[in-house]
Amino acid sequence: MPTDTSSLRSASIIGTGSFVPERVMTNADLEKLVETSDEWIQSRTGIRERRIAGPEMRTSEMAARAAEAAMENAGIKPEEIDLIICATVTPDMFFPSTACFVQTRIGAHQAACFDLSAACSGFLFGIETARNYIAAGSCNTVLVIGADKLSSIVDWTDRNTCVLFGDGAGAAILRHAPGSRGVLANRMGSDGRLAEILYIPGGGSAHPAGGPTSAENPVTIRMNGRETYKAAVTAMVEASQQVLADAGVSASEIACFIPHQANRRIIEAIADRLDVSMERFMVNLDFYGNTSAAAVAIALDEAARSGRFKRGEKILMVVFGGGLTWASSVVEW
Ligand code: ACO
Repeated sequence: MPTDTSSLRSASIIGTGSFVPERVMTNADLEKLVETSDEWIQSRTGIRERRIAGPEMRTSEMAARAAEAAMENAGIKPEEIDLIICATVTPDMFFPSTACFVQTRIGAHQAACFDLSAACSGFLFGIETARNYIAAGSCNTVLVIGADKLSSIVDWTDRNTCVLFGDGAGAAILRHAPGSRGVLANRMGSDGRLAEILYIPGGGSAHPAGGPTSAENPVTIRMNGRETYKAAVTAMVEASQQVLADAGVSASEIACFIPHQANRRIIEAIADRLDVSMERFMVNLDFYGNTSAAAVAIALDEAARSGRFKRGEKILMVVFGGGLTWASSVVEW
């Protein structure tokens, strides 16, 4: 689904923030839980450690802390926010939305709030949604959050999945900034035919928790790793090429590529197919694992704060997740 932003009110990212819990779980810690090894995990994924939130820390608390950091970075007050979009697959509850809990926690009482479900792609789906509200003139300032507590939906006895994920949150403030070009182009896509290569079978209306089919449909992640891997590479390469064409920008003009942080080998395959050196790719999955909707948001915040790109330079974000879903975005910083 291409977008032409050239004739619309522009939307710029004016601040970013992120939060990860303090507790570090290393690959050596996982060796005590399942039949695995640091060598296997690092060589297959690049992950060395991940952060795990304690039982008292809900997704909304991580989201709120990332939002506070983004507001401070943008230099805005909570009452300036018109809309809060929280992308998550681990909401505090089915309802109210996690965005509503964040609203109360940060004091953004003027905002409308909703959650967005696009798994690991949620943050960029949120950026595109925010851009549209700003382009249409119905909002000036939008807080977009990607936050997930994947440790709460991981089967800690399944070595195929439990070594991959971590907890965290990232946030961005988007605002119409006259004279600034901001988000140049976005792509979003989905393929529901591949829903069952990466999903949580239980807990919803199909198989309610505690219902008659709940035993064989747990509320934990199920994944076909190889199929997910192949689909991830194909979708993120195509989405990157498409959004570059939409923006009228070549790969050589991108100062920093910020991909979904699932697996270093997936990122290397994308870099190879786009013919871009790995130095221009932001990678922090070594320390956080795959934090789902938070992953690209945390990577964006860390890349921005560490000076990986400057005002006026262009970045490309690209993501992939359950659904299947994928999205890409070219932003002039
Ligand atoms: N430790 C040791 N061995 C393991 C582990 C582990 N943690 N996990 C799997 N294995 C074993 C398997 O059982 C298999 O053994 P077998 O050959 O005896 O059956 C063997 O290792 C090889 O398994 P493969 O699946 O071939 O390993 P692969 O090289 O494909 O790597 C991985 C697996 C890392 C999961 C890879 O396929 C991958 O990264 N896929 C994408 C996953 C992903 O990105 N998911 C998130 C998507 S985003 C979202 O929306 C949440």
